[in-house]
Amino acid sequence: MEIFVDSANVEEIKEIISWGIVDGCTTNPKIASMEKGKGFEENTREIIKLVKGPVSVEVTTNDLQEMLAEGRKYTSWGKNVVVKVPMGISGLKATKIFKEEGIKTNVTACMSVSQAILAAKSGAEYASLFYSRIGDMGYNPTRVVEESVRMFNVSNVKTKIIVGSIRHLMQIIEAGLAGAHILTIPPQFLYQMAKNPKTDESINEFLEAWKGYKNK
Ligand code: E4P
Repeated sequence: MEIFVDSANVEEIKEIISWGIVDGCTTNPKIASMEKGKGFEENTREIIKLVKGPVSVEVTTNDLQEMLAEGRKYTSWGKNVVVKVPMGISGLKATKIFKEEGIKTNVTACMSVSQAILAAKSGAEYASLFYSRIGDMGYNPTRVVEESVRMFNVSNVKTKIIVGSIRHLMQIIEAGLAGAHILTIPPQFLYQMAKNPKTDESINEFLEAWKGYKNK
């Protein structure tokens, strides 16, 4: 299982990359719009340079021609750019065209197995299932992830499933065990994953004992 960082904040991404746990990065227009001070292109180009793996950069339109123009522009910013395309008929058409042009896509905001299948069929490198948002609709997101993975395996589909929309630590384990190929995780949960009060207590106990020993 791979871990992507779900952020558009350069400093956050830089810090987490230094932990050695980042395989890629996903951004979206909402989190990108929260980055003040720099323009979208400047900020995104910095992220693309920082991250060794794939960086998903999302189009900001539902119009096919505009999606194609934005996606082609993004790919000129770096070799590791993956164009994030919204799930839907125009998004599927764009995915097919991008595939023919050798441009990798991440079909985003998939909420069902059916949508994930169409994303894969249209040529997406990645299909993003939105874990919490699926739950918001009253469906079981673990089941959606499990069934999508099973469906892809049965059909020998190479598209990778990214699980995004993580809002609780527990969901990371659930989605991972459901077979997600990639989890894209907001920085605050990566910090939470690294911490455990019992770890801190144990290490402090050892350090205190060591201090006493050194003082003798
Ligand atoms: C990832 O690709 C998504 O853009 C992101 O995880 C969406 O998360 P949200 O549902 O918290 O907005």
